[in-house]
Amino acid sequence: MRASKNWDGRVASAELVARSDGFRELRERILVLAEPLETDTIVDVGSGTGLLSLAFAERVERVWAIDSSRAMGEYLGTKAASATLKNIETVLASAVSLPLVDASADIVVSNYCMHELLDTDKLRALAEAKRVLKPGGRLVIGDMMFSLRAMQARDRGVVLDKLRRLAGRGLPGLWRVVKNVARLAGGRWEHPANAAWWQRALSEVGFERVQIEILEHEGGIASARAPAAPGADEPTAPSAPR
Ligand SMILES: C[S@@+](CC[C@H](N)C(=O)[O-])C[C@H]1O[C@@H](n2cnc3c(N)ncnc32)[C@H](O)[C@@H]1O
Repeated sequence: MRASKNWDGRVASAELVARSDGFRELRERILVLAEPLETDTIVDVGSGTGLLSLAFAERVERVWAIDSSRAMGEYLGTKAASATLKNIETVLASAVSLPLVDASADIVVSNYCMHELLDTDKLRALAEAKRVLKPGGRLVIGDMMFSLRAMQARDRGVVLDKLRRLAGRGLPGLWRVVKNVARLAGGRWEHPANAAWWQRALSEVGFERVQIEILEHEGGIASARAPAAPGADEPTAPSAPR
């Protein structure tokens, strides 16, 4: 797996973004789609400063907050303590190798982490999510949902909108455009995928009931279910008349 950004040095900026209206709205929608129950165990992949973990911890039995940045985990651990939430376990690990046993989680959630991973690693992360989910478990992923490669109408719209907003900030904005283009050319920009990619990837990994919600801005939410236990949904055959 290619090393991603140095997230340890980005805790304060990640927390600012997590407090934004856009991220709070994403959190609320993810909560609705995940349908958490009091007895549930949740895995939050790329938990950052705790946008999802803290909200779920108030509603469920246990939260595994997985992040590859030690500083993010420490920050979240302190926040959880200050909120007297004792059911969040922060774990230093990568999305592509979750240190959890098979079928141990009711829900896997993630917000704005997956675009940090190359597509091959996203697939590994999805396979890991499926492995740790119980049969019928729920997966809900919020992220940037557009592609810089396929460039369909929505993708073009999102990119143009981003460029327009940066250009509107004058020279500093234009400088960011230049830096981003250089990072993109060098393969160092983020790796967002569009709705079609998510739909296909989730089905290929073996998830069922895949649904993609495209939001007004760059984002979207993918949700799906792990396959139910064999026979769980099958109607019972009527017994033969004696
Ligand atoms: C943009 S922040 C989002 C944090 C949080 N989910 C939120 O919505 O506020 C992305 C987070 O993903 C984490 N991350 C990046 N690559 C990761 C990986 N391969 N495995 C686990 N976490 C990762 C970063 O350390 C960072 O905390």
